[in-house]
Amino acid sequence: MKPIKIVAGNWKMNNILSEGLSLFSEIDELLKRKPAKDVKVIIIPSFVFLRYLAGRSEVIAIGAQNCAVEASGAFTGEVSAAMIKSAGAEYVIAGHSERRTYFNETNSMLAKKTDQCLKNNLAPIYCIGETGNERNANKHFDVIKKQLTEGVFHLNKEVFSKVIIAYEPVWAIGTGVTASPAQAQEMHAFIRKTINEKYGDAIANNCSILYGGSCNAQNAKELFACPDIDGGLIGGASLKAADFVQIIHSF
Ligand code: PGA
Repeated sequence: MKPIKIVAGNWKMNNILSEGLSLFSEIDELLKRKPAKDVKVIIIPSFVFLRYLAGRSEVIAIGAQNCAVEASGAFTGEVSAAMIKSAGAEYVIAGHSERRTYFNETNSMLAKKTDQCLKNNLAPIYCIGETGNERNANKHFDVIKKQLTEGVFHLNKEVFSKVIIAYEPVWAIGTGVTASPAQAQEMHAFIRKTINEKYGDAIANNCSILYGGSCNAQNAKELFACPDIDGGLIGGASLKAADFVQIIHSF
């Protein structure tokens, strides 16, 4: 078996509802005209748009950008995995570097978030990636291994097989500086090897490992041609319908 190819658009904190609806329709229209071949397309908007977008397209699945550590209760402002599921989403980003940096999310919190997702039948898109300083200090492999070990390696084989990994070097996110295909492939191969050491061949060879960080309509083709890159988690370029759809067609 091969990993499922995935292109996911992380809208972050962009668009008001009317803009989100138009962008979504535009993407859906373009995909109707030229369908994606064997690529799972996911759009990941703000929580407040989930219910509006879920079920709106036959070819676009919906995900959330975050979920609560706790299952339910007195946690004002938090959104539980069960709520996300009930709104029609199928995926949740866990541990985006912006959440790790600005909202102090730790690997141990993310282990609990991935548990919440999986209990509610949501596939976590677990994000990992090193900062520029960590790479310059040659610590990038260690950082990635620790993020995997502490965030998702507590899961048993069967449950882990539902996890999607996104490698997003922090120095490449929103900066316009993309990892070269060689740099990205090196990290993706390392991630697959690390998963293989923990869970064995079958699970590692099936795991979708996405690249994220200034991936755009120009560079997606080269990145997606790498043997261990199974798609992309796209930020900025997912806010332009034509660019996002071009990325989807880049395999
Ligand atoms: P970017 O963001 O494509 O704008 O670099 C990617 C991400 O943060 O998921």
